[in-house]
Amino acid sequence: MTNRRTFLRSTAAVTAGFGLSGSLPVAAFSPSGILGANDKITVALIGARNMGWYNLTDLLKQPNVVCKTLCDVDDAVLSDKAGLLIKEGHQKPVLEKDYRKVLEDRDIDAVIVGTPDHWHCLPVVEACGAGKHVYVEKPLANSIAESNVMLDAARRNKSIVQVGQQQRSGGHWMSAMEFIRSGKLGTIRQVKFWANFNYGAGNMPVPDTGVPEGVDYERWLGPAPLRPFNLNRFHGSWRMFRDYGGGLMTDWGVHLIDMGLWAMDVDYAPKSVRSLGGNFANKDRALEMPDTLNVLYEMDGFNMSWEHNGGVQSGPYDQLYGVLFMGTNGTLVADRDKWRIFPEWEDEKWRMSQVEEVRSDDMSHINHCENFVRAIRYGDALNAEIEIGHRAALYAHLGNISYWTDDKVVYDEKLRKITNSVKADDMITPGYRAPWEFPG
Ligand SMILES: NC(=O)c1ccc[n+]([C@@H]2O[C@H](COP(=O)([O-])OP(=O)(O)OC[C@H]3O[C@@H](n4cnc5c(N)ncnc54)[C@H](O)[C@@H]3O)[C@@H](O)[C@H]2O)c1
Repeated sequence: MTNRRTFLRSTAAVTAGFGLSGSLPVAAFSPSGILGANDKITVALIGARNMGWYNLTDLLKQPNVVCKTLCDVDDAVLSDKAGLLIKEGHQKPVLEKDYRKVLEDRDIDAVIVGTPDHWHCLPVVEACGAGKHVYVEKPLANSIAESNVMLDAARRNKSIVQVGQQQRSGGHWMSAMEFIRSGKLGTIRQVKFWANFNYGAGNMPVPDTGVPEGVDYERWLGPAPLRPFNLNRFHGSWRMFRDYGGGLMTDWGVHLIDMGLWAMDVDYAPKSVRSLGGNFANKDRALEMPDTLNVLYEMDGFNMSWEHNGGVQSGPYDQLYGVLFMGTNGTLVADRDKWRIFPEWEDEKWRMSQVEEVRSDDMSHINHCENFVRAIRYGDALNAEIEIGHRAALYAHLGNISYWTDDKVVYDEKLRKITNSVKADDMITPGYRAPWEFPG
């Protein structure tokens, strides 16, 4: 009997003969076919060390989801995670270093992309072309142009792409959104985000060394420029280096800014973005991103701003990070644990009634994984569909570009260009190191 799943498999077989070099061809079929409720969903994990692994473990808690393959460029990560899977009673995974082989496997329905940010674009574009469903970590990409081609690939192939902005699946975030939309806060004039984390200061410098045994460093670098191996630019701490990540601005920026865009129903690019900052406090550390950054987004009818301070772990409202909506009647302040209201008063009268603090149920990540599986099985709407990741990434990257150019930037979403500065516009698209090619 041909069901949608066997159809997907047989059409994937058509693409399998195209070999491993370069981008996979765009398949002439739509992977949006919905699996039956009892069909097994076979997943593969690409980039297995930290967040990718967390995603896999929560996906495996969903009914009838199995992992066939682990893909990583570090043998130690592969054997460690394979051991954990077997210990937890899952099938012995196939181990793979080249993600393109994973995408050629017709058994695999969905891939998790948990690689560093510079390694999101190619696997996602090619996975969409190969008819796979995708759960990709945030920020969607390490540049605006990559994010654009990923959105295009998902649309062209009608792919199911969930972005790892799991706050979208958090109950207390949903209730905060509902509260903001109820109008009780009055007119919202300011939306603010801040993120103060020690890791944003970078590590102490260490000398370049040889590549650890079992690591395919050339493949880890992928499209990024060739540089000697340095532990600070590797697992986990790559975030502070421009070729692989965008520092706190993108790492936390996409999560928090997304809450502002969601609450304020923003479906447009900012009218302009201006950032100021620098590595002011941690000059002795190994980092390329600013430890201190303030960004002002010009929006329709309200001000929106981002601030981060690496090497600091305290902040406004006794929260090291947060989101704030200031209305005429009161201010809502939220983080991943809770949201609270600070009512305004006038002439000894409150402008709105006091509201009890709303606590998180800590279910956002597992809900997000469940939502992805339900989208595949039943066609449920995704909570963080690729467009949502695409918009949040745009805001975060524009913040960094304004910092790098030390100038205001104006982005035209239709033209996909920064229109007021050639220098800034050049930063939209990264150079890709051969043999990797920017997907066109
Ligand atoms: N949603 C969240 O809350 C959240 C939290 C943490 C990280 N993240 C995101 O998850 C992603 C991964 O971050 P991390 O902290 O897990 O990084 P990490 O450095 O700990 O792990 C990345 C893994 O990818 C592997 N890798 C690199 N290139 C590869 C390639 N070409 N093919 C296969 N594997 C490759 C590395 O060897 C490593 O094992 C990032 O995009 C990050 O922003 C999201």
